Amino acid sequence: MKHEVGVLFVCLGNICRSPTAEGVFRERLRRAGLERRVLVDSAGTGGWHVGEPPDPRTRAAAARRGYDLSALRARQVARDDFRRFDLVLAMDLDNRTSLLRQCPATEQGRIGLFLSYLPDARATEVPDPYDGGVDGFEHVLDLVEAASDGLLESLRRRLDA
Ligand code: 4NP
Repeated sequence: MKHEVGVLFVCLGNICRSPTAEGVFRERLRRAGLERRVLVDSAGTGGWHVGEPPDPRTRAAAARRGYDLSALRARQVARDDFRRFDLVLAMDLDNRTSLLRQCPATEQGRIGLFLSYLPDARATEVPDPYDGGVDGFEHVLDLVEAASDGLLESLRRRLDA
C-alpha cells in the first residue's frame, strides 16, 4: 500500500535532532498501528555528516528510552523532498529559513516547525545539542517526545484514524 502522508524531519547535521525525531515518531506510529500509512524520514540542511550514523551521544540517550537509532544514516535535504513529503518539519528557525530558500515557491506551505505540534507550547525550537553536555541530549528527547504526541494526534485527524 502506498503511504498516505509523508513527514520529513530536518535539522542541520542529521545526526542529533532529526534522527531522534525520526526514531521517536516511528515508534509512536508503530504503537498506533499507523506505520504503514505514514512515510517518515529525516535529513540535514548541511552535508558534513552524510552517510554517518547518528552521534554516539544521541544513540545512547535514545537507547536509554528504548529507541534504537543505529540503522539510520545521515543524508542532506534534496529537491525531491519537497514533492515526496507533505510535512517538512524543521527543528529550529535557522533550518526553517534554509528550507524556505531551497523550496520551490509552490511547495512552501509544506514547511513548518516541528515544535508547532507541542501540546503545551513550551518552546519553539529544539536546541542544537552538538557542542553541549549530556543534558542537552535529554532535553532534545523531552521536546521530541512531546511534539511527537501532538503530531500523532494531528495525523490521526488527517487520516481519520
Ligand atoms: P543536528 O546537530 O543538527 O541536531 O544533527 C548537529 C550536528 C553536527 C553539527 C551541527 C549540529 N556540525 O556542525 O557538524
